[in-house]
Amino acid sequence: MIIAIDGPAGAGKSTVCKILAHRLGFVYLDTGAMYRAVAWAFKECPGGDGRQIEADPDQNQVMEMLAQTPLIFSLKQNRLEIYCGDRLLSEELRGPQISEAASRISRLPAVRQFLVGWQRKLAEQGTSVVAEGRDTATVVFPEADLKVYLTADLRTRAARRSAEYDEKGVKVPLGEMQKRIQQRDEADSKRDHSPMRPAEGAILLDTSHLEIEDVVDRLRGLAQNPAGTDSTAHKEL
Ligand code: DC
Repeated sequence: MIIAIDGPAGAGKSTVCKILAHRLGFVYLDTGAMYRAVAWAFKECPGGDGRQIEADPDQNQVMEMLAQTPLIFSLKQNRLEIYCGDRLLSEELRGPQISEAASRISRLPAVRQFLVGWQRKLAEQGTSVVAEGRDTATVVFPEADLKVYLTADLRTRAARRSAEYDEKGVKVPLGEMQKRIQQRDEADSKRDHSPMRPAEGAILLDTSHLEIEDVVDRLRGLAQNPAGTDSTAHKEL
């Protein structure tokens, strides 16, 4: 079974999908981490050697860069592991700068093609998957058994992200966070290739006034009865 969950930054996707996948015993596929890893590798990895991606790079050049970055994506105990050479990437993928860099490189068709290939390959290794990102239901797994678009109002999303960063000792004022999230949403939803949008047949779920456990419960209910959902139109729960 494939559950594909898309939506903007701060909608609660990662938190909820991690718990949902764990409870269902499914693979948790965080596709955003893969875009973050490419952004990181282009800057940091041997072979990436600090080359900046120009505004409109030649896609062959991007493919060459991807071929040179020693990124490996694998599954361990139902979780995605990302290596650059022999370095396991984790916290270095989480800062605000890497979020913006990931959004920038995610508009490049060569990067998308490279990662979508990996995402489908990884999904084939797990019997069942909860995938989350921006295009998992529209492009990566259009035949997913359950498609959901999670969202929340901008203020709530910014407050959640600020609190997350706060816990890591990174202070970003709420207004600044709101601005950054808004800019990223815009870039992610207006790009030419695989823009962020609800998939045909996706269930729309606004998490602004919901607790994490409520969202997980609703998704779990949907996962247990995906055939009961209306697959012809977007639907508010
Ligand atoms: O979900 P996230 O914040 O970790 O994603 C970081 C960026 O990666 C996001 O701003 C756009 C890009 N991304 C994408 O284009 N497609 C995906 N399926 C996942 C993420």
